[in-house]
Amino acid sequence: VAQQPQGPVLKVALVGGGTVGSQVARLLRENADELAARSGARLELAGVAVRDAGKTRVGLPLDLLTTDAVALASSGADIVVELMGGVEVAHEVVVAALRTGSSVVTANKALIAQHGAELHALAREHGVDLYYEAAVAGAIPLLQPLTSSLAGDRITRVLGIVNGTTNYILTRMGEEGAAFDEVLADAQALGYAEADPTADVGGHDAAAKAAIVAGLAFHTAVTAADVHVEGITSISVDDVAAAGDMGFVVKLLAIAEEVPGGICVRVHPTMVPRTHPLASVREAFNAVFVTAEAAGEVMFYGRGAGGTPTASAVLGDVVTVARHRVSGVVGPTLSTHAERPVLPIGEAITAYYVNLHVDDRPGVLAMVASLFAEHSVSIAGVRQEGSGDEATLIVRTHRARDADLQATIADLRESPVVRAVAGLMRVEGAD
Ligand SMILES: NC(=O)c1ccc[n+]([C@@H]2O[C@H](COP(=O)([O-])OP(=O)(O)OC[C@H]3O[C@@H](n4cnc5c(N)ncnc54)[C@H](OP(=O)(O)O)[C@@H]3O)[C@@H](O)[C@H]2O)c1
Repeated sequence: VAQQPQGPVLKVALVGGGTVGSQVARLLRENADELAARSGARLELAGVAVRDAGKTRVGLPLDLLTTDAVALASSGADIVVELMGGVEVAHEVVVAALRTGSSVVTANKALIAQHGAELHALAREHGVDLYYEAAVAGAIPLLQPLTSSLAGDRITRVLGIVNGTTNYILTRMGEEGAAFDEVLADAQALGYAEADPTADVGGHDAAAKAAIVAGLAFHTAVTAADVHVEGITSISVDDVAAAGDMGFVVKLLAIAEEVPGGICVRVHPTMVPRTHPLASVREAFNAVFVTAEAAGEVMFYGRGAGGTPTASAVLGDVVTVARHRVSGVVGPTLSTHAERPVLPIGEAITAYYVNLHVDDRPGVLAMVASLFAEHSVSIAGVRQEGSGDEATLIVRTHRARDADLQATIADLRESPVVRAVAGLMRVEGAD
């Protein structure tokens, strides 16, 4: 018979008992012995904060429920696990916990993207831990690999599919030719999309995650406000089909990369070659593709959401923090020593696909090509399809400064031979 693990008892306060919180509570109970053996302490649930005490609950210990989240967070637990979501009250909860000397584990990307620097400073001041692996890409181990496993390397670029809802929508638009609204309604019915999908389809959820990843990858303070964001609401079935005809899929990518003079962090719909590893990430799955100087390319793949997968990442942090408390240490705090300038989207280096409706007469192709050349944008390929007096030109550029590409597009719109700029999308991973 295995020996019952000995060691101290650590009190865990759970603020939020919803989709993720209820699974954390279940796994803490069901795997108590193993978690004790791994962390060197018995993890005892001290309380669970919820908003509505009257709701029917399955799996949560009813005797431990409270509706006073801040009081529970200040009750002196060893570890406070914040899984309530939102920013204002969650901020109050995490600040109260850190000030009381509790270590904090959270899955709250919006909170960390907005207040990460302040909360890390508070954790350092009080000699406690702040961990949030579940805040980016759910179950996928990403933040620990970035801050520990790759700590000896120099990361140059991170490309991620970090929002399952939009990846599900784009996958179905691409594979079935279904319209955005129709797929969104299905995603809501299946529970992949929230009743209010703005944060997902508008790209804001991905932007918060991009800010967190960029900060860790480049040792620089980055907030969601530093991230250039474009969502997928204006993507049509025709755009996705046109990309498909050229051997590309459309993905909402979060991109953080070195550019001349600093770093640039952006979220936007992107054409990715069908042969790129990110192109095979379908439906609600997430994946993050990291390029580092010595390691080369590394990819992380898995479930970016869901109660149980997310609870896995939360519990990983809980075990890490418990081990630290048992040995009387804290983990490394946020490092922002590099302080790289975070530059606007104009400084990003990217390629474009442009679909132009032009007059079908001699000399037009040369005129269009000269507008690209004037802005130092070189053309990677052109396809022309004629239809009466109008022709469609599909131009793919090499990588260039985004500001130069935008200036080219502005000139194309003014050109007398261009009737319309009918399609425009950035291309990544084709170089
Ligand atoms: N769900 C996912 O797949 C996923 C993935 C990655 C990260 N996350 C993050 O994890 C966090 C939790 O998400 P979730 O999906 O579990 O949310 P959820 O299902 O809405 O659960 C939120 C919980 O917090 C409680 N709560 C909300 N406001 C409260 C307040 N003012 N006082 C006390 N309790 C309060 C709710 O109480 P009631 O039960 O009474 O409503 C509920 O138990 C969020 O930050 C989210 O972004 C979620």
